[in-house]
Amino acid sequence: MRLLVMGPLILLLIFLLPNCYSFPLCTDSRAPVTLKTPLSFCSYNGSSCCNATDDAALEKWFKSMNISDAGCASVVKSILCVKCDPFSAELFNVEPKLKTVPTLCNSSLSSSSVQSKDSAKDFCTQVWDTCKDISILNSPFEPPSQGSAGLPISSNKLTNVWQSGNDFCAAFGGSSSDQSVCFNGKSVSFNSTQNIPAPKGLCLERIGNGSYLNMVAHPDGSNRVFFSNQPGKIWLATVPEQGSGGTLIIDEADPFLDLTDEVYYSTQFGLFGLAFHPNYTANGRLFVSYSCDKDKSASCSGRCSCNSDVGCDPSKLGSDSGAQPCQYQSVVAEYTVNSSSSMPSKAETARPLEVRRIFTMGLPYTSNHGGQILFGPADGYLYFMMGDGGKKGDPFNFSQNKKSLLGKIMRLDIDNIPSPSKISDLGLWGNYSIPKDNPSADDSELEGEIWAYGLRNPWRCSFDTERPSYFFCADVGQESYEEVDLISKGGNYGWRVYEGPDLYHPLETPGGNTSVNSINPIFPIMGYYHSAANNNVGSASIIGGYVYRSLTDPCMYGRYLYADLYATTLWTGTENPEGSGNFSSTIIPFSCSKNSPIPCDPVEGSSLPSLGYIYSFGEDNNKDVFILTSKGVYRVVRPSLCNYTCPKENTTDISTSPAGTSSSASNLQNVTRKVMLFLFVSLLLTTISF
Ligand SMILES: *[C@@H]1O[C@H](CO)[C@@H](O)[C@H](O)[C@H]1NC(C)=O
Ligand SMILES: *[C@@H]1O[C@H](CO)[C@@H](O)[C@H](O)[C@H]1NC(C)=O
Ligand SMILES: *[C@@H]1O[C@H](CO)[C@@H](O)[C@H](O)[C@H]1NC(C)=O
Ligand SMILES: *[C@@H]1O[C@H](CO)[C@@H](O)[C@H](O)[C@H]1NC(C)=O
Ligand SMILES: *[C@@H]1O[C@H](CO)[C@@H](O)[C@H](O)[C@H]1NC(C)=O
Ligand SMILES: *[C@@H]1O[C@H](CO)[C@@H](O)[C@H](O)[C@H]1NC(C)=O
Ligand SMILES: *[C@@H]1O[C@H](CO)[C@@H](O)[C@H](O)[C@H]1NC(C)=O
Ligand SMILES: *[C@@H]1O[C@H](CO)[C@@H](O)[C@H](O)[C@H]1NC(C)=O
Ligand SMILES: *[C@@H]1O[C@H](CO)[C@@H](O)[C@H](O)[C@H]1NC(C)=O
Ligand SMILES: *[C@@H]1O[C@H](CO)[C@@H](O)[C@H](O)[C@H]1NC(C)=O
Ligand SMILES: *[C@@H]1O[C@H](CO)[C@@H](O)[C@H](O)[C@H]1NC(C)=O
Ligand SMILES: *[C@@H]1O[C@H](CO)[C@@H](O)[C@H](O)[C@H]1NC(C)=O
Repeated sequence: MRLLVMGPLILLLIFLLPNCYSFPLCTDSRAPVTLKTPLSFCSYNGSSCCNATDDAALEKWFKSMNISDAGCASVVKSILCVKCDPFSAELFNVEPKLKTVPTLCNSSLSSSSVQSKDSAKDFCTQVWDTCKDISILNSPFEPPSQGSAGLPISSNKLTNVWQSGNDFCAAFGGSSSDQSVCFNGKSVSFNSTQNIPAPKGLCLERIGNGSYLNMVAHPDGSNRVFFSNQPGKIWLATVPEQGSGGTLIIDEADPFLDLTDEVYYSTQFGLFGLAFHPNYTANGRLFVSYSCDKDKSASCSGRCSCNSDVGCDPSKLGSDSGAQPCQYQSVVAEYTVNSSSSMPSKAETARPLEVRRIFTMGLPYTSNHGGQILFGPADGYLYFMMGDGGKKGDPFNFSQNKKSLLGKIMRLDIDNIPSPSKISDLGLWGNYSIPKDNPSADDSELEGEIWAYGLRNPWRCSFDTERPSYFFCADVGQESYEEVDLISKGGNYGWRVYEGPDLYHPLETPGGNTSVNSINPIFPIMGYYHSAANNNVGSASIIGGYVYRSLTDPCMYGRYLYADLYATTLWTGTENPEGSGNFSSTIIPFSCSKNSPIPCDPVEGSSLPSLGYIYSFGEDNNKDVFILTSKGVYRVVRPSLCNYTCPKENTTDISTSPAGTSSSASNLQNVTRKVMLFLFVSLLLTTISF
């Protein structure tokens, strides 16, 4: 019975779950499923963490409690059934262990206008008052020092263990804050959403002219960042302080690392991903993801992703744009700054020799290869985004195929690498190991590398730096819909059964089809139809961004920013209530700061800036957000610089962040020093002239 045997889960959760954490997730950190019929005992309907089996187990447990009092029975039943709540992970998880009882709201709802005495009482106290003298066998209310579930038979009344309602609620009560939730007897109670005024617009300044695909903050926490471009070069640059008028100084001829010889570059190929080991400042390890051409590079040789395991015959793929199947490969490789410096933070170049090949996989067609890599901030594993391989409508059904790595988000452990002889025995595609808690641990049909599936071409994913369990990925659509997904363990994001929220009808299905009823897709949290992309090209392609966490534009704080490639439309997504995973998005206007260090190009016949094509976003160590476009690097700056009003903006203070404050202060000191020096010298001269 899953409910009583939670030992292995507990271990797993300690590892997986950061303490601040919400949006609907179950205690195994998976997303809830959509019930086709309501649960018969717990009567949950719609989204739930239980299936019929779990529901029956809860019913059995409840019956075994033999609660004589109807009021207490009803309360206990509601508490047991919280296991099925879509927020069960949050409600049951308080580190360091999974609880047997969800967090019971110990403060009455502030919004409650009901006058009756009972509802004025908090839920936790209600539970105590209703059940304290009632005998409960196999009780879920576990006394403090006891390891296993249930009160001892001899003390099966709450009063035998707890002295008072206060004692009881010290153990089981809690209130909802914006980082956690509690159960109020009927549903999950959220912290009242803070009323942050909506942004009037996004103010941008142009600080560079170069065109890049990746911008990654230096892991040492400084104001330096790495940029990489699609042909395969990586540069290290200093982000100019806001308001300084400075631009990015990048010496094109002096890259941090030049991989143009290894990288195969054309429209759909190139260097797509760049990530630094969480411990880079100590170990100097860095990782890149790129495409290679096996005709041009000897090390460009991996297994073909179209193979018999996935019911795909390479000779039947047909050639696409003259390419042979699996001529082009997707590679993740490790480099180091080790030999160039004993202090990796000080390194200004990396060693141009590959340390090891992490992953190589032959691609069936010539587009949709994702390619971004990111380290999970909570788990330290390498996430690798991979598209469906590219042909229209995913004819071979790769994204839904659990044996294929196409159309997937992978999660790899690059700190524990098996010996070379073991790699092929383990069926791995390179030098990495499979984290023990990857979803294949529970679903043996899934390939070990897979973290989530059913994606088409994830193009730019990010973790919310304040709530690392929020893992956002924008997934590029086919015909009509561009989506943003919240990625959870083992989640199926629906492609090609669905495109966004709509059923998709493939043109050809040589690889078999996946029936609608056989899957439990997780639908996008945000997105837009191509018609809403507001451009003249009649097409669209989503570019995922970041949850804005800088203090520069306080009206943007906590909102997810994303865009369309054609750069005419930017959106912000807002979660309401906070922690619920329920997002709504709106188009946000943008314009160019009057102080932009490099003037923005105007759209013809308009005062609006023309950004060119948006390729990607970046975030620096100040949490400022940058837009990487074909026309350069744009930074989100204070809204007042564009005449957008944000009541929370501190317009009197030039600085916008703690880092800004200190350097402005030192700037001021320098100015003061200079002025003093000037006065001193003047005085001296005056004195002398006397
Ligand atoms: C379950 O929810 C759906 C939609 O919210 C509703 O149409 C349906 O009637 C509900 N079923 C039950 C049994 O409550
Ligand atoms: C119900 O969910 C449990 C895990 O919670 C799973 O092991 C079981 O296979 C599921 N049963 C059905 C019928 O889907
Ligand atoms: C359940 O409670 C009833 C009285 O309320 C009692 O007669 C019966 O023995 C109890 N059953 C168990 C299994 O304890
Ligand atoms: C509610 O529970 C939390 C967590 O146990 C505690 O910090 C808080 O003081 C409690 N509040 C009340 C009103 O009991
Ligand atoms: C909501 O959360 C904020 C920040 O954690 C806290 O200051 C505030 O008191 C909370 N509001 C309620 C109603 O709990
Ligand atoms: C950016 O381009 C503009 C116009 O081409 C040029 O005037 C300016 O010097 C460039 N700035 C930098 C920092 O490269
Ligand atoms: C980072 O690397 C240093 C030096 O190799 C090591 O002592 C430390 O334990 C590492 N930290 C983590 C979190 O891996
Ligand atoms: C250099 O790399 C080796 C192995 O890659 C590692 O063990 C060592 O800690 C690194 N040393 C420094 C100073 O980065
Ligand atoms: C593992 O890394 C080594 C060193 O880079 C490389 O020679 C080997 O091909 C890699 N193994 C796989 C399966 O990629
Ligand atoms: C496509 O996926 C379904 C399962 O969802 C499977 O039945 C079918 O065989 C898959 N196609 C291939 C080529 O494996
Ligand atoms: C902002 O408003 C001021 C005065 O109201 C005006 O001079 C300035 O041109 C405006 N700037 C922009 C970017 O619209
Ligand atoms: C202030 O002056 C010191 C040395 O005089 C210099 O190192 C520092 O960079 C200056 N700070 C700023 C913000 O200009």
